[in-house]
Amino acid sequence: MRTQICIIGGGPSGLLLAQLLHRVGIASVVLERRSRAHVLGRIRAGVLEWGSVELLRLAGVGARMDAQGHVHEGIYLASRNKGFRIDFKKLTGKSVMVWGQTEVTRDLYEARDAAGDPVICGVEGVAPHDLDSDAPYVTYTLDGAEHRIDCDFVAGCDGFHGPSRQAIPAEVLREYERVYPFGWLGILSETPPVSDELIYANHERGFALCSMRSDQLSRHYLQVPLGDRVEAWTDSAFWEELRRRIPTESAEALVTGPSVEKSIAPLRSFVAEPMRWGRLFLVGDAAHIVPPTGAKGLNLAFSDVHYLHDGLTRHYQGDSRALDSYSERALARVWKSERFSWSMTTMLHRFPDGGGFAQKMQDSELAYLEQSTAAQTALAENYVGLPF
Ligand code: APR
Ligand code: PHB
Repeated sequence: MRTQICIIGGGPSGLLLAQLLHRVGIASVVLERRSRAHVLGRIRAGVLEWGSVELLRLAGVGARMDAQGHVHEGIYLASRNKGFRIDFKKLTGKSVMVWGQTEVTRDLYEARDAAGDPVICGVEGVAPHDLDSDAPYVTYTLDGAEHRIDCDFVAGCDGFHGPSRQAIPAEVLREYERVYPFGWLGILSETPPVSDELIYANHERGFALCSMRSDQLSRHYLQVPLGDRVEAWTDSAFWEELRRRIPTESAEALVTGPSVEKSIAPLRSFVAEPMRWGRLFLVGDAAHIVPPTGAKGLNLAFSDVHYLHDGLTRHYQGDSRALDSYSERALARVWKSERFSWSMTTMLHRFPDGGGFAQKMQDSELAYLEQSTAAQTALAENYVGLPF
């Protein structure tokens, strides 16, 4: 088989890239290790920057999002049993869209089907070859049969644990990482959200976040120690702890119910440079990870897709400058989102070795935010998404 772009990974990055390329007549093939059901069963992010909203509309998959998603014009930050609101719309003129990654991924899979380019799921042993030549190719097996795809370029959209980043020579690759000394215990419940907007709570017992997916589906998180096992957390223990960490007014309004999903995720900041090596481009989690505090993971993946889609489109029109600067352009925005996600995580979580001074720093940062329009504007413009 031959195509223009071989895309490794059928998650949000690979799917959106394929769909945007298709709309400008660039052919691609998406190789996905898991089944579609497995990919669609993942419970991940829920907040879209406005740039991501516009990208999904450009890709022709914005209809359900526009009909069923919720536009949010602000968030609440809470500490010491009281909260204050950051008004994105007033401060930046922009909003965010609350629309689950699961729904985004569902729409993208269906768009691939409709385009007659179904994702090839269930592949094994995917391996890129000759990336430093002008004739790269990718091999894989499916149902025991060996396959080869010859292509012009390979998009490594295969997430943090995929093979693409490993294909970059160790002497070329530079990695930057911070692992946080805690995790997030997340619960999905068929209950109404506790608030009309998200609540990020700093508490002496640990961070808590009240989010949502719809009017009848809530998503909440608790900071937990690294060694915690999800089996040790009953639903009632979760709800009881959440009530302790959010302001009393919200705790009293909280409607609890059985969890439909419950899991613990570790938190890390990670960036791999460069995001290009020869004919290989790294996209999304294959190149970077952010702690979820800034709601940037999915949005940063879409940011990369924006730059790569732009570069490839111009390349096939005869101008390769944007493609040649993909890594620099993408990384410039990646590092700004990494900084924001790190700063939100540092401000809102209880660090085991933090001590009194760190606590005082958090208290003063939150007090400054509450009082300063300039500080709130800085947070708001990062949260809604910096320009591409
Ligand atoms: N062969 C084929 N597919 C693979 C391989 C492989 N060897 N390894 C991984 N994959 C697939 C995974 O099964 C997954 O579906 O690549 C896809 C990568 O998707 P994500 O990990 O979701 O990464 P990305 O598409 O960059 O999206 C980033 O998704 O997971 C969230 O928190 C993340 O919000 C962020 C967003
Ligand atoms: C979510 O709804 O899953 C969510 C929202 C905001 C975050 C992280 C996760 O910062």
